[in-house]
Amino acid sequence: MTDNGIWVVDFGGQYNQLIARRVREAHVYCEIVPYEKCMARLDGGELPLGVIFTGGPSSVYEEGAPGLPASFFELGIPVLGICYGAQLMAHTLGGKVVSPDYKEYGRVALYAGIDPVIAGIDPVIAGAAPQSKSALFSGISDTLQCWMSHTDYIAEPPAGFVVTSHTENCPTASLEDPVRRLYGVQFHPEVHHTPFGQELLKNFLYKVCGAAGDWTMANFAKQKVSEIREIVGDRKVLCALSGGVDSSVAAVLVHEAIGDNLTCIFVDHGLLRKDEGEQVMEVYGRQFNMKIHRVNAAERFLSKLAGVDDPEKKRKIIGAEFIAVFDEESKKLFASEGDIEFLLQGTIYPDVVESGGGGGKAAVIKSHHNVGGLPDDMNLKLLEPLRLLFKDEVRGVGEELGIAPELVWRQPFPGPGLAIRCLGEITEEKLFIIRESDAILREEIDKYNEGLFAKTGKRNYGGDYVSDAGGNVSSERAVWQYFTVLPNIRSVGVMGDARTYDYAVGIRAVTSVDGMTSDWARLPYEVLETLSNRIVNEVDGVNRVLYDLTSKPPGTIEWE
Ligand code: XMP
Repeated sequence: MTDNGIWVVDFGGQYNQLIARRVREAHVYCEIVPYEKCMARLDGGELPLGVIFTGGPSSVYEEGAPGLPASFFELGIPVLGICYGAQLMAHTLGGKVVSPDYKEYGRVALYAGIDPVIAGIDPVIAGAAPQSKSALFSGISDTLQCWMSHTDYIAEPPAGFVVTSHTENCPTASLEDPVRRLYGVQFHPEVHHTPFGQELLKNFLYKVCGAAGDWTMANFAKQKVSEIREIVGDRKVLCALSGGVDSSVAAVLVHEAIGDNLTCIFVDHGLLRKDEGEQVMEVYGRQFNMKIHRVNAAERFLSKLAGVDDPEKKRKIIGAEFIAVFDEESKKLFASEGDIEFLLQGTIYPDVVESGGGGGKAAVIKSHHNVGGLPDDMNLKLLEPLRLLFKDEVRGVGEELGIAPELVWRQPFPGPGLAIRCLGEITEEKLFIIRESDAILREEIDKYNEGLFAKTGKRNYGGDYVSDAGGNVSSERAVWQYFTVLPNIRSVGVMGDARTYDYAVGIRAVTSVDGMTSDWARLPYEVLETLSNRIVNEVDGVNRVLYDLTSKPPGTIEWE
């Protein structure tokens, strides 16, 4: 947190969060700043260490295409333009961008040597050819593979710029004016299909911008604890603890800062996984010694849900009931504990960015599984210590604070819990089947991962990323989320010579990076076989096991 940080200036590119994550992975703090807010923030006295322009869907020649005034480039701030960002910089500074009638898309060979003749670049187009290797490509080979996705390209660099790499179809795959510290790349260094991309970003951050690379979760946690102490003083904080990663890490962090002045309300809606409620109390209540007020509201939720089979109605009932319970309980606490002044929320950076708050707008309060609404008369101030962090950074803070890895790296669990995995009407019997089968699934995936770890040193589930040859991390093939569902189908079977008419259980296991898209996980047949045997044999009321082979889209990860 000692650097001023980098601004990832957003021109509407699909990879803005990915770029920011890559910068953070290089231990440099960064923020995503909408391009429209840039000049106002600079006028307000802020000065980033450097900026990275993202790509974007526009062409610089479009009416109203997003951009920044030429004066921006006179401020002395180092710039790395990516794709549209590079074209915009070139166009604004007097270079020539053209729109050919072909696209360059996918993995492409790139040459980043210093001799324009060998490189096949017309020295006239290349301007003054670079006499030494570009700082961006320092320590990186001349002959490379990169990921391209563009139509327009830069045909002539602006005065003062030299071309530093090219591809067969793109004469200006990268360009720079090292004196003004302005750099542009047509390819995408942030995606793992550009294997040297992270090295190039690090070169920009360390060598060009002079970043110290001291953004670590240990530093963050230390600094946040003292900041929270300062802000809260000896006043009281209330937190809705769900047992999920974000609210748990936020609570442990604040507890570290202010101890017993933090009170957590844990609403157990009876839709949690097997033993989960107990685990929350054991870990956070007893191990971390936090003040947790557990509300056993299972009966209340189940009676409201009785007879309801419409998925949206279920979600709405659970959301409304959560707010009602939280309101009642916090009012009781308010009466017994005296003034509570702050409400702690586990808001994280993607929530802020996705709600348009990257430029400083207030974050939208998360849906029902955190807190959807609070009595106005309590007039609480929001405390959001994790609002600058990506999910993997939140996990890093959790580890720094001593939360066990299996909790910190746990898979996502939806706020409405098992209700949206129990199709049709929710009953105790069906919840029991989901809980028991899900516990078996989790046990078997753990075993599978331990076996894999023993053999390869890598686990194949969320968080344990696999590095490719270029050192870039990818979690695309990792099992990201896995659970069982009860599709509300009963079918005929035979067990021990007797006819059965029992439920089918569905197994859902997906690979994903962020839950926005996913593919079904290629679990080994042996794992599937064990799962099928164990679930049918050990869970009463089940005689059939199904594996869901649907990607997202067209399916969603959850079934409701
Ligand atoms: P879908 O089913 O939309 O899920 O593909 C994407 C990811 O979001 C989780 N999910 C939820 N999380 N409250 C949550 O906190 C919800 O209502 C909710 N619905 C889905 C889901 O588990 C998956 O990780």
